[in-house]
Amino acid sequence: MDYQIEVNKNQIDVREGESLLTALTRNGIKVPTLCHMNRFSPTGACRLCVVEVEGRKDLVTSCSSQVEKGMKVSTNSQRVLRARKSLVELLLSNHPDDCLYCVRNGHCELQSLAEEMNIKERKYYGEKNTLYPDYSSPSVARDPAKCVLCSRCVRMCEEVQVVTALDFISRGNQTTVNSAFNKGLNVSTCIHCGQCIQVCPTAALIDISHIEKVQTALGSKDKMVVFHLSPSVGASVAAELKMKSRHLAMQRITYALKRCGASRIFNLGFASDVNILEEASILKARLENEDSVFPLVSSCCPAWVRYAEDHHPEILDQLSPVKSPQQIMGTMAKIFCAEKHDLDRENIFSVSVTPCAGNKYESSREENTHKGVSEIDAVLTVRELFQLLRSFGLDLVQMNEDDLDEPYNEASAVAWKHGYSGGKAEAVAEQLFYLTGNDKKEKFKFNPPKNMTGRRETKLTIGGKQLGFAWVSSISEAEHYLQHLKQEGRDDIHYLEVMACLDGCVGGGGQPVSRGFEMSRARKKVCLEMEKSAGKKYARENSAVNDMFKDGRLKPGNELAETWLKPVFTDRSSD
Ligand code: SF4
Ligand code: SF4
Ligand code: FES
Repeated sequence: MDYQIEVNKNQIDVREGESLLTALTRNGIKVPTLCHMNRFSPTGACRLCVVEVEGRKDLVTSCSSQVEKGMKVSTNSQRVLRARKSLVELLLSNHPDDCLYCVRNGHCELQSLAEEMNIKERKYYGEKNTLYPDYSSPSVARDPAKCVLCSRCVRMCEEVQVVTALDFISRGNQTTVNSAFNKGLNVSTCIHCGQCIQVCPTAALIDISHIEKVQTALGSKDKMVVFHLSPSVGASVAAELKMKSRHLAMQRITYALKRCGASRIFNLGFASDVNILEEASILKARLENEDSVFPLVSSCCPAWVRYAEDHHPEILDQLSPVKSPQQIMGTMAKIFCAEKHDLDRENIFSVSVTPCAGNKYESSREENTHKGVSEIDAVLTVRELFQLLRSFGLDLVQMNEDDLDEPYNEASAVAWKHGYSGGKAEAVAEQLFYLTGNDKKEKFKFNPPKNMTGRRETKLTIGGKQLGFAWVSSISEAEHYLQHLKQEGRDDIHYLEVMACLDGCVGGGGQPVSRGFEMSRARKKVCLEMEKSAGKKYARENSAVNDMFKDGRLKPGNELAETWLKPVFTDRSSD
């Protein structure tokens, strides 16, 4: 620590150049905030974090002020408390009073602030702005009436995802956060990543809910309801509930979903294994063809694919021509269940449970429906999974365990790698290493990312060639990296993994809403633990995958490979 300042008549240690808010938080002094977000530059927009600094006439916003030598600060004077309370009362005056029916009831930051500040009634009455919700997007529902203008979504969409689908519109008390020209998000530049939901303090941004259609299917006699559980969801639930036996999270969810009436619960990690094997084979084939253009770019993240289609039509041929795990799983499950139970595919209702808000958009893409039957009928985010279970009176904390269902019950350690940034690049590199016969001579070594943010690259010698593998998380990183490759004329990167969400799926737009990024780290920790304890280390060891190849159901070039498991990428740059 560099020096001390006085806070509430006590001395605290501070670092030169840090913000007052950072110093206060580190010293255990809580100051309410609304617009502040770690990793983002401060805006000073909400003024909730005000404190009194001796010698300053006006109250000071602690998130945008630096510590100074000799500073004397009061964080809880009467003046400070009154100012903060008035700010929250003003926000409440223009907010709907529908907490009882609100999806964020109980975990709304505005509600918590009102409770912390002992606000018991509406103080200011006036004419409220009439604002209309927007349900046009397949992933994100917006209710501007619940917006507190904190700008967190605007900064996320602009600074991290660089698409600026949301922005401030109008001025003064008419100001709202909206999509361009107040048209629906469906006709905006939105890529459906759901990161804005993650940062919104209220229910102004929430999931397009699929809960009702899942409940209806579960109650229908004509439908066989099949769930596909992503291993990342297991990691998320284990981290959220602080489960000691983390490896039981998937089994507990399975038991709970069966109590809801589900017929089959499959491991979506099976499809992650298929995806890795296919992608490594494609990379090998491209390396053997001297006309290939590199890098081969991952295509399992639907928000990234949408961004590439909108902004980089020139790289669509470089996107990996393998469907995402969700769509592979939906396809295989419908084919298998229809055959096994002699059902029409339309009688199978396929639900994926994922940490990805973009998967809702992906399932709605035209090419993922065949003759009117969708591969995936509903997508539940982790938030919605908790909600669905609550609606059936089920609590995962006190739940028995049940095994996932054959034949798609297994996932190798590689399926957990899909959950965090860099994991997939490593898995593809390892499988390529195996395919070229290297594993017989030497051990595979991959330099893992030192931390989870930003761009990472590594070089490996595989099949006698030096190959470059890179991975980025967030669209801003992807954009910078693509520009960097182009500007530097680099041809030494052969595989690029892109995840639209910060840190990968562990920070996905469908994860439980959490302020800050600590939960992503906790979820990644679970993924790493699960990898270590997984019975099968590599995708090629997955029995169901091997059976599928062995019985000839999946062969290069056959109908399943060409029609069902191949993605379609569309140039949307002129839309
Ligand atoms: S879903 Fe993603 S791209 Fe769309 S508005 Fe939200 S942050 Fe922006
Ligand atoms: S929509 Fe949510 S995150 Fe965006 S400005 Fe409004 S309250 Fe803040
Ligand atoms: S949190 Fe500091 S001004 Fe909003």
